[in-house]
Amino acid sequence: MKFTFSQTIPKEAVSVVLSRESEQTEMHVRDNGSRELSIGIKDIKVMTRRKLVVLIRRAISAAKERGLSRVAIDLSQFRFQEVALDDKELGRLFAENALMANYEFNTFKTKPKEGWKQVDEIIIVGNTSATLKEGIKTGTIVGEEVNKCRELSNTPGGDMTPALLAKKASEAVKGTSVKVTTLSKKEIEQQKMGAILGVARGSKEDPRFIILEYFGAPKKEKPTVLVGKGVTFDSGGLNIKTDDHMLDMHLDMSGGAAVIHAVVAAARLGLKKNVVGLIPAVENAVSGESYRPGDILYSMSGKTIEVLNTDAEGRVVLADALTYAKKYDPALVVDAATLTGAALVAIGTTASIIMTRNEELVDTFKELGEQSGDYVWPLPLWEEYEKGVKGRFGDVSNIPTQNSREGGSINGGMFLLQFADSYPWVHIDIAPRMTSVDGDYLAKGAAGAPVRLFVRLLEQK
Ligand code: BES
Ligand code: ZN
Ligand code: ZN
Repeated sequence: MKFTFSQTIPKEAVSVVLSRESEQTEMHVRDNGSRELSIGIKDIKVMTRRKLVVLIRRAISAAKERGLSRVAIDLSQFRFQEVALDDKELGRLFAENALMANYEFNTFKTKPKEGWKQVDEIIIVGNTSATLKEGIKTGTIVGEEVNKCRELSNTPGGDMTPALLAKKASEAVKGTSVKVTTLSKKEIEQQKMGAILGVARGSKEDPRFIILEYFGAPKKEKPTVLVGKGVTFDSGGLNIKTDDHMLDMHLDMSGGAAVIHAVVAAARLGLKKNVVGLIPAVENAVSGESYRPGDILYSMSGKTIEVLNTDAEGRVVLADALTYAKKYDPALVVDAATLTGAALVAIGTTASIIMTRNEELVDTFKELGEQSGDYVWPLPLWEEYEKGVKGRFGDVSNIPTQNSREGGSINGGMFLLQFADSYPWVHIDIAPRMTSVDGDYLAKGAAGAPVRLFVRLLEQK
């Protein structure tokens, strides 16, 4: 999809207009024969930034569903008194969300004769300032990277093994100054990443450790390190998941996909930052070689991990990645992981959960969340929860020994904290935002969190 600018509306293009008179979405033919798609907004009493994001998507997905390939929009309609936006932000929000709404996961479907329903061109009519155009340019880059992230996440487990994810990372950075290094199983062994090796053992697919480096600032500046869970399929391992719970587990590398495309976005935007992405990529499979409940793994940190449940594998592979992050003497480490189903129980599907012991970072991330559209909300990492990660026979256990269902997401965060205690760190449990939900006006499947939040972070902090 591309954006063009014009003072006049081309004849075959359909105008998208917002209507305060109606709540419906309808096609109208004007007296002069031109067509318009009317988006009713009567039910929106007070506009907010959150509602505006949804409205942009609603408008574009309505055009997409009707197969309107060329639409004309005057962006001044998206200016509301209640939402303060400069031209740059308006252009950016519009482009990001228009692109996100236009995406569909079609890769494995046969193309219909008439082609896919999608918007190919959005003609921006009316007043267009240079800053609005600049915002659209930025938003296009971010929106494209969000959609590429969703494409990787959506790809089935058989077509997205650790090796293939590494290959995709190398392809994703083409044309940018990002450097990708992939550690093979042998090199992972040399690094003594026993946690990653333990989880990977049950799969015929060897693990990979994917490293992305973008140096947009002088080398001496400490980098921000982004860590993404890269479990290419999570069967649960010997603690096997039941059918319902296993269905979407090809999306368990969504954190890793987000890290890849956030680093690429940073490079494409030319951010003056040093950024490192780390992705432990494994398949959590079932076989005679699978790691077992009760097994004790030697992590890279030197701490032993007692595996009490093989389905709590994300935190185990992240342990080694968080240890590896120390090599960079990072200014900040942020991990994104589809870590716990309990996160959905806690907060529903509106926001991801953040955990950190740094109160200032809580405020920063909440603000970045609202700006970006990747909303986040905190849970505590109080000392009282430390008993949940005490092992019986290992230094730490990957789930509480009393295997309770209480505070499941916090236990995940507390486990990670044991390996992330030497630098400022934020954990984002993106399980609630792994897939889109009704009302998002996004295609079914991966939602692309938290690429937009990562980009805002790298731009501002
Ligand atoms: N990948 C899952 C978490 C998940 C579940 C993400 C549903 C998105 C949607 C993770 O590896 C897992 O299986 N976690 C377990 C932890 C439990 C064994 C303590 C869970 O959530 O049940
Ligand atoms: Zn699992
Ligand atoms: Zn998992």
